[in-house]
Order: sequence, then structure tokens, then C-alpha cells
Amino acid sequence: MNPSGGLFWHWHAWRHQAQWTATCADIAQWLGQMPPSQDKAPELVIVGASAGWMLPSSWLQGFATVTTFDLDRWAAPLFRLRHGAALRTSNTALQCNTADALTDLDAVLRAHPRAWVLFDNVLGQLRFHTPSVDEASRRIASITKRMHGRRWGSVHDAFSGRTQGHIQGRTGSSSAPAMQRSVQAPAPTSTSTSVAAATRPVALGRFSRQLHAQGEWLDHLTDQVFPAGTPVHHIAWPYSPGYCHWLQAGWISP
Ligand SMILES: C[S@@+](CC[C@H](N)C(=O)[O-])C[C@H]1O[C@@H](n2cnc3c(N)ncnc32)[C@H](O)[C@@H]1O
Repeated sequence: MNPSGGLFWHWHAWRHQAQWTATCADIAQWLGQMPPSQDKAPELVIVGASAGWMLPSSWLQGFATVTTFDLDRWAAPLFRLRHGAALRTSNTALQCNTADALTDLDAVLRAHPRAWVLFDNVLGQLRFHTPSVDEASRRIASITKRMHGRRWGSVHDAFSGRTQGHIQGRTGSSSAPAMQRSVQAPAPTSTSTSVAAATRPVALGRFSRQLHAQGEWLDHLTDQVFPAGTPVHHIAWPYSPGYCHWLQAGWISP
């Protein structure tokens, strides 16, 4: 069984589209800051694309070619169903692959040497695909190291957990907080931990309070995905009633 994709994911995403509108708008706004047309980007590779439930077709249309990878056999036909028509109108070639793009990352990068690479809500899922958290952390570190010299981005879970009440929309007392920005701090060392905590942006403290977290949240082991200095967007994702994810998104240029 696929712990982060498959039929349950498609059903859940289809059913919650309306509740995820604000989250998808935040993701679209973040993606819009990397307009492919300015760079005449030839190709986008999406790892963990699934059906692209949270991706705007309009942004994908800026590429000459979109190549997707997912382990889930339902991902390719559903991605074509959701984005195929829009991509045909922009003459964007679409190739959807059912494959493990992380174990074979070097081969994927060699086959697509000039492509931008988007890890689309997949790096935060690796702890569910890996036997131990230490191994998941090592795997994430090895993936990001292999991306050196490439233009790549990732949107991924940072934390997730229960909330007080049902967070939704952008209005009302339990509304999802607006997207926040920060800059990735250097990796903490034993002597710098307290300094990093002391300099954590005030806005992020407010963001975490606005998520109305209850109890302990799950750490998705993604705190070192981005190199120090990367601009990071923080996005609230009301995954289901009473359960929310804190997404982080950023782009790295060579
Ligand atoms: C949370 S879902 C991603 C959702 C997707 N980006 C969307 O918007 O619909 C995570 C996806 O990553 C895929 N995945 C996990 N490990 C993978 C791997 N090694 N290679 C390719 N896809 C992978 C899962 O099958 C799943 O569809």
C-alpha cells in the first residue's frame, strides 16, 4: 500500500477541493513568483505529482514540456485528466511516468539535464515511506545534496496535527492564517540552537498560534530541506476537519 498516495489520496483531495481553495491560491501565488516564461524554461519535472490536485494549470502552461513522476498508477491518468486539456492549448508536451523518481533521482536528473525540478508535496512524506526517522532524514539530506547546481523547488509538510475547531477559509474566528514568509536560518549546531530560536521571525510565531494547534504536532523532518538564506513561504493547509498541515515552499536557483 502507498502510504502517501493512491486512491484514498485522490478521493480525499477531490472531496476537499472547496476547503483547500485558499491553500491552492497560496501555492499558486508562490509558484507565480517563479514565472517559467521569463526564463523560457524548457521543461518542468514534477516528483510526487499525483494528479496535481493543488497545482494551477496556468503555471504549468509556461513550460514547453511537463514531465511527471509518481509511484501511484492512478496518478498519470488523473494528472492528464486534470491538466491535459489546458496543456494542449499551450502546446506544452506532457509525459506522465509511473516510477520511483527518488531512488532513481540521478537517472531522472541525467535524463532531464535542463529541467526545473519541483518536489510536489513529497519530501515531507518520506518518513512514511522509510523504516526509521533517522533514515528518512538521511534520505532527505541526500536528495537535496544531489540537487546541487540545479534549479529546483519544493512544497512540503513541515508539521501537521490536530487543531482546536475546524480551520477553514480566510474569514471567521477559525480562519486559516495568510501565507507568511521567512528566510531559512542556518542549520543549528549545539552552540547556535538558542541563537536560532531567539532570532526566529515574530511573524512565524504568530502563524503557528493562528493554526490553533492542539497537542503535539508531527514533525515531517523537512527543516533542513532548504539551504540557509532561501526565501521560504509558510502555508496553512486545513487537510480535514480538525486536522491541519503547515506547508513550507521555496525555490533554489543554481
Ligand atoms: C501528498 S501526495 C502529493 C500530492 C500531489 N502533489 C498533488 O498535488 O496531488 C504525495 C505523492 O508522492 C508520491 N511519491 C511518494 N514517494 C515517491 C517516489 N519515490 N517517487 C515518486 N512519487 C512518490 C506518492 O505516490 C503520492 O502520490
